[in-house]
Amino acid sequence: MLLNALALGLIFIARFFVTSQAADNSHTGIDDDFPDPLNAAQFDTEMSKHLHVVEFYSPYCHHCKALAPIWKNAWRNFRDEGRKLNISFAQINCVESGDLCHRERITAYPAIKLYGPNGFIKDFPLAQKRNLETLTNFARQEAMNADNFDTGFLKSQSHLLKGTEFLSLLAGNAEGPHLVSFWPSKNLMTTDDSSIEFENCDDCHSFQNTWTVLSNKLISENFTINHLNCESEMKICRELGFSDLTEITNHRADRSPHVVLIVPKKKAGNLFYYEGDEHTVRDYEDFARRTTFNAQAPTVSNDVLGQLISEPFQMKKSPGSPDGSIHIVFRYEPDTVVQEDFDILEHLIKPVSNIPNAYLHKSTDDLLSFSHELFKSMYGLINYNPGEEAKLPNEEFFSMSAITQYPTFFMFKQGSTIPNIFHGYSTTEMRDFDLITEWIEQDSLPLLNELTPVTYLKLLEYHPELYHFMAIQLVNTSTEAELSRSLDYIENFRLSAFDYESIRNDYLMETVAAERKTKDEAVRAMKAKHAASADIVKKMRDEITHEKGHRVLLTFLDLSTHDWLLAQAGLQPSDRNYRNGEVLIVDKKSCSTYVERDSLGEILRADTPFAVKDTLSRLSFPSRYNSDTIERVQIQGSNRVRFSVISSISEHGFVGYVLILALIVFAVRVPKMLRKISNARKYRSRRDTTGLLGKEKSKD
Ligand SMILES: *[C@@H]1O[C@H](CO)[C@@H](O)[C@H](O)[C@H]1NC(C)=O
Ligand SMILES: *[C@@H]1O[C@H](CO)[C@@H](O)[C@H](O)[C@H]1NC(C)=O
Ligand SMILES: *[C@@H]1O[C@H](CO)[C@@H](O)[C@H](O)[C@H]1NC(C)=O
Repeated sequence: MLLNALALGLIFIARFFVTSQAADNSHTGIDDDFPDPLNAAQFDTEMSKHLHVVEFYSPYCHHCKALAPIWKNAWRNFRDEGRKLNISFAQINCVESGDLCHRERITAYPAIKLYGPNGFIKDFPLAQKRNLETLTNFARQEAMNADNFDTGFLKSQSHLLKGTEFLSLLAGNAEGPHLVSFWPSKNLMTTDDSSIEFENCDDCHSFQNTWTVLSNKLISENFTINHLNCESEMKICRELGFSDLTEITNHRADRSPHVVLIVPKKKAGNLFYYEGDEHTVRDYEDFARRTTFNAQAPTVSNDVLGQLISEPFQMKKSPGSPDGSIHIVFRYEPDTVVQEDFDILEHLIKPVSNIPNAYLHKSTDDLLSFSHELFKSMYGLINYNPGEEAKLPNEEFFSMSAITQYPTFFMFKQGSTIPNIFHGYSTTEMRDFDLITEWIEQDSLPLLNELTPVTYLKLLEYHPELYHFMAIQLVNTSTEAELSRSLDYIENFRLSAFDYESIRNDYLMETVAAERKTKDEAVRAMKAKHAASADIVKKMRDEITHEKGHRVLLTFLDLSTHDWLLAQAGLQPSDRNYRNGEVLIVDKKSCSTYVERDSLGEILRADTPFAVKDTLSRLSFPSRYNSDTIERVQIQGSNRVRFSVISSISEHGFVGYVLILALIVFAVRVPKMLRKISNARKYRSRRDTTGLLGKEKSKD
């Protein structure tokens, strides 16, 4: 609201000056047919035709002036392709069309937004640089994004739910999965009714669009889509923790609709809250589909599992969604399993669904043999080089990894041959929620992860005690030819990771053998000294610790969208240009150095799997090599706080800087807030549904 008022004030002042200042023609262009900005009357007609990437600007804003030539260039470059794809670039001058900009809630310049026939769809990602490539990529991706099609012609498939109906679903009467949204309204009959006014809810109108598309998509998959008006069902909304939607208590607070899922065939534990940070159709679809799937944990056969994990890697199409599925399989013996063994699955539905792309299954097939085959197939892949000595499966390593009783959990990942088996020695471990979630959490990334401004720090800081290095495959997806080369590099990169894994396995077994030897010697020495037999037995019982470290985190970075990220992360000296196929290896433990050349001093590339594997293995296991010839480069400014400040300033200008200052102040208070939230969540998940049904809660 404040920003809005400020912007309006600025527009007013700017208007005042507009007559006395010479018109800035950097936005109008006189040298070719670059179109004039649309006025309010043209805007609505033009938007109704197809998709538009719209820039709202002021001729007096510094960032707008800097963007002007880039915008013009993008318009010219993309014009023909845009015609085929039914998307175009358009501009609005907010000094000339102040009312329109106010109506479209423009609070800062330049604002780049995607519009469809139904109005605003989404913002150009704030974290992305605005250049020719990112602007045209955005237009291209959105033109092909099914979510943006014909929202103008779609009718909402969501049905208004009464409070009593909701309670009945919650009591276990849901036939199929129900996705329910909650609104700060009492008269929203159909969710696509655009005449409804929502108070203090800037997101509500765009969420109406999201919900309309979502309802159409999910209804064909047997989901029932419902909505509920919190202003007429206050009690239920409050019980669910959505009191913010029942009435306005704080006039400055903004609100947004909430979404829950009710899964069928369960009387308790059937309610799941959407808690993601993103609010696109894709995010809600994923939440609804995977939570419903995971709540059932369907039985999977080895054949199907084999198909799931051998799906080829696709360079993903849109930002923010990792490619590469993760499959967690509960393996049990039908003859000896007891009902309590399955309880753990109930508890895992939520944590597993919160891991992007993770699925929960059950199986009674022979997963040990399956894992063993997978392990052996890895050696088929890494014997790519006839010049090298044949690499043989380290059977001892596999046996050690496979020590377990049933029931237990297996984890498989798309594209990966590396088995991961939970060491369940007894029912105690198999019912230990914390132990199992820790096991999952430590291995909850797909085989290959995209580096973006959003994921960079998370990946860099992901379990450095286990993942000592982060390898970055640089790719370029801007043309078909570059994309096809990128996929080849990615494949070599994957093979080098398996090759490295086999060396790591050997190394781990050598450490185990060495530890065993030390222990045996110690026992022998104690016996020779006639030590007390109790002490000897104690020593003999000492566990051999299995080292789990020395892993490598695989990532890729698309130069055509995020090349600038490398410089900001301190990984690109000013005289260095990166190219498709090159590989960087960052030391995750220290976060202060990285490697860009192999042991011969050549630029590290994934033209074959060899160089990357060799470099990784020299870095991790230097004692296996005669000399350390890998050159380490200092990460520039190696201060990650600085990294985030810079990226924000460059993206948002001075406002970004002020925001960061605010964030730092905020950060000091976050731990306390988080504790509060987590307590609230705990309370919420513990509360059983009988409370919601209005009956007395039993005393614990
Ligand atoms: C673009 O719009 C035209 C006319 O509405 C339609 O015939 C054509 O199929 C659309 N093209 C694409 C790629 O959607
Ligand atoms: C939807 O339900 C029907 C009937 O229960 C079933 O035949 C069909 O396979 C289901 N479709 C999907 C996509 O699950
Ligand atoms: C990506 O490839 C295109 C086409 O070959 C090239 O023009 C562009 O410079 C490349 N981008 C980067 C950052 O290397």
